[in-house]
Amino acid sequence: LLGAVSAIALFASAGQAMAACDDGEIVIKFSHVTADSGHPKGDAANAIAARINEEMNGKACMEVYANSTLFDDDKVMEALLLGDVQVAAPSLSKFEAYTKKYRLFDLPFLFSSMDAVNNFTEGPVGQEMLGAVEDKGYTGLGYIYNGLKHFSANKPLLTPEDAHGLKFRVQTSDVAVAMIEAMDASAQKLAFKEVYGALQTGVVDGQENTWSNIYKQKFFEVQDGVTETNHQLLTYLAITSTDWLDSLPQDVREQFVTIFAEEVRKANAQATEINEQAKQGIIAAGGEIRELTPEQRKVWVETMRPVWDQFKDDIGEDVIQAAVDSNS
Ligand code: LMR
Repeated sequence: LLGAVSAIALFASAGQAMAACDDGEIVIKFSHVTADSGHPKGDAANAIAARINEEMNGKACMEVYANSTLFDDDKVMEALLLGDVQVAAPSLSKFEAYTKKYRLFDLPFLFSSMDAVNNFTEGPVGQEMLGAVEDKGYTGLGYIYNGLKHFSANKPLLTPEDAHGLKFRVQTSDVAVAMIEAMDASAQKLAFKEVYGALQTGVVDGQENTWSNIYKQKFFEVQDGVTETNHQLLTYLAITSTDWLDSLPQDVREQFVTIFAEEVRKANAQATEINEQAKQGIIAAGGEIRELTPEQRKVWVETMRPVWDQFKDDIGEDVIQAAVDSNS
C-alpha cells in the first residue's frame, strides 16, 4: 500500500488521480472539466484531495478527475445522484435546469471585482443561495472562485458592434444567450471540452472565459485576440449528493466538510493571482490582448444592461440589489 505522501507525489507527477485510496477507505471522487493545475478549480481540487488523503488516511480518500476525463458538466449532475462520483464543481452558469436563482451570477457587469464577489458570497444572501439546489438532492459545499470573463473572437472586438453577426460559444445559460443576443450576435451552447475544436474549425467565431481557461485551453491560439472586458463572473458551486453526505459516519462527514471549507477559502484567495499569471502566460506566448478605454467599456455595459430586466423576476430585485451593494 502506498502511503499518503507517496500517493500524492505520484498523483502530482501523473497529473491525474490514482493510488490515493486504500482498501476500506470511503472513496470520494471529484470530477471536473478544467486543467488539473495552474487553474483555480484544478488547484483547489488538488489541495482538498491532498488534505483529505493525508488527514483522513484510513477513513476516506479523494481521487480527482480533471479535464472532463470522467464526466461533462451536464452528465456529472446525474452521476452525483447515482453515486458514480461524490463531488463536482460546475460553474453556476450550468444550473439552469436545476434553479433559476443562479442566473444572478451571470448578469453582465454585475460584479466589479472578485472582492465584490467575495463580499456577496460570504454574506447572508450568498450563503443562503448555497442551498438553492437542496430540493433536487444536492448539498452545496461552497463557492470555488475562478474570475471575471473576457471576450475573444476571430476578429478584433473593441465595441459590441464588432460582434454583430458573429457566433459565440456559451455555457448552458440562458442569461449568457441573452447577453450575446444583446450584441446582435448569436450564441451556441457547447460543452467546455468542445470549445477549442469549435473555435479552430469555425463552428463558432468567438467565446468568453477567464484568463485561466483561455490560457489553459489554448483558446487564444485559435482567436484573433482577447478583449479585456471583465463582463461576467465565472464561479463554481462545489456540490455533493445529500444522500451520500448523510450516509457518512458523523466524524467523517464533519472532517470532510471542514477540510473542504478551509481549502476552498485558501484557494479562493489565490484565484485572482492564478488568473493574472495566466494572462501573463498568454502575452508571453504571443497572444493579443486588447484593453478597453473607459468610453468603449461604457458602450459594452450599456449594450448588455437590458439583460438584467429580462431576468429580474426570476432572480428577485432584492437579491440583485444585495449583489450590487457588494461592489461598494
Ligand atoms: C465553461 O464551460 O466555460 C466553464 O464552466 C468551464 C469551467 O469549469 O471553468
